[in-house]
Amino acid sequence: MKIGILTGGGDAPGLNGIIEAATRTLLNLGHEVIGIKDGFEGIYKGEFMPLYIKTVRGQHAFAGTLLGTSNRSGTEGRETEFKEAYDRLGLDGLIVAGGDGTFRCLQSIQGINLIGVPKTIDNDLPGTDTTFGFDTASSVVSEAIDDLRTTAIAHKRIIIIETMGRTAGWIALGGGMASMADAILIPERPINLESFKSFLKKKHKIQRGIIVVAAEGATLESHVQRELDKSGASVMVADYGIGERLAKWVEEEINWEARHVVLGHLQRSHPPSTTDRFLTTAMGIVAARMAHKGNWGHAAVYKHGQVTQVPIESLMGPARNVDPEHRWVKMAQALGIYI
Ligand code: F6P
Repeated sequence: MKIGILTGGGDAPGLNGIIEAATRTLLNLGHEVIGIKDGFEGIYKGEFMPLYIKTVRGQHAFAGTLLGTSNRSGTEGRETEFKEAYDRLGLDGLIVAGGDGTFRCLQSIQGINLIGVPKTIDNDLPGTDTTFGFDTASSVVSEAIDDLRTTAIAHKRIIIIETMGRTAGWIALGGGMASMADAILIPERPINLESFKSFLKKKHKIQRGIIVVAAEGATLESHVQRELDKSGASVMVADYGIGERLAKWVEEEINWEARHVVLGHLQRSHPPSTTDRFLTTAMGIVAARMAHKGNWGHAAVYKHGQVTQVPIESLMGPARNVDPEHRWVKMAQALGIYI
C-alpha cells in the first residue's frame, strides 16, 4: 500500500517520533510511505516527500515536525477540492496526527481511509488518558519553576509563571506539582481574589520569594465567562494576560515586588522527554499496524497504561478538562499549595 502521514494543527513535542516510528514500521511491513507537507496545505497543493529510513532516522529526538504543519487551513466549504486533491495523491490510507480541530475537519470528507493519532500539549483531548507533548511541556514548566525560584528568593520577589492552556489547566498543574510551586491557578478553579490575597499576605511575612504558576486561561471568579466550543460543550473564555495583570495586582494590593514570565512556545519547542518518546514510539507502531491491517476509522490512543485503539470519533467529544477535585488538586492541597 501507499500510506501518507500528515501532521496538523499546532506542533507538539513527539510529532517526529510518530513520523519516525510509523514510517519505520510501515516500511518494514513492505509499504510505501509519503509525508504530506504543512498539514492540509500539502493536500490542497499536492506537496509531499517520500519517507525512507534515512529520512526519518533520529528525528524522534527533535521537537517540531519534519513535515511542517499548519493550523490555518480547514476544509469547510472546500470538501470537494480536498477530496479531489487527496485522490490525486493515490493513497491507500492516511495517518494523521492532529487535535480535535483536525479530526473534525476530516470527518466532513467521505472516502478517506483514516488512522488518527491524538496530539496536543494541553492534554485535554477526550478518548485518550494522555497526549504526547504534555509531559515535555510540563517539564519545561517545572524546570522554569526551579530556576526562577532562585531569583525570587534572592530578591524576595513573587514571580508569576504563565503557562499554556487556554481552557485546560493540565500543564500548569502538572508542572506546578512536579516542582511544588507555591500557588497553581488553573481555568477549572477560578481565582477568588480575597482568599488568594490573604494566602499571599501570610506568605509575604514568612517566606523569601514565592512562585505562582498560572495557566493562560486562568480567570478570576468574578470574571468567569463561558462559551460553546466546536463540539458544543460549554468552556471558559480565556482571560489573556493573566500573568502580567496578577503581577501588577500583587504590587498594588500587597506591596510585594512582583515579576511575571510567560513561557509561551518554549513549552512546545523543547526536545521530547523520554516519556513522550516512548509514548510516540508505541503510538506510531500501533498506528502503522492499524493501517497494515486496514483498521481504518480508528485512532491510536493511550488507555489504562497501554497504547490501544478506539474509534476516531472518541477524539471529538467535549474537552477532557481537569476535574476541579482531581487527585492532583488534592495532592496540592495536602502540600499547602494554593489552588
Ligand atoms: O492548543 C495548544 C496550544 O499550544 C495552546 O496551549 C496555546 O494556547 C495555543 O496552542 C497556541 O497556539 P498558537 O501557536 O497558534 O499561538
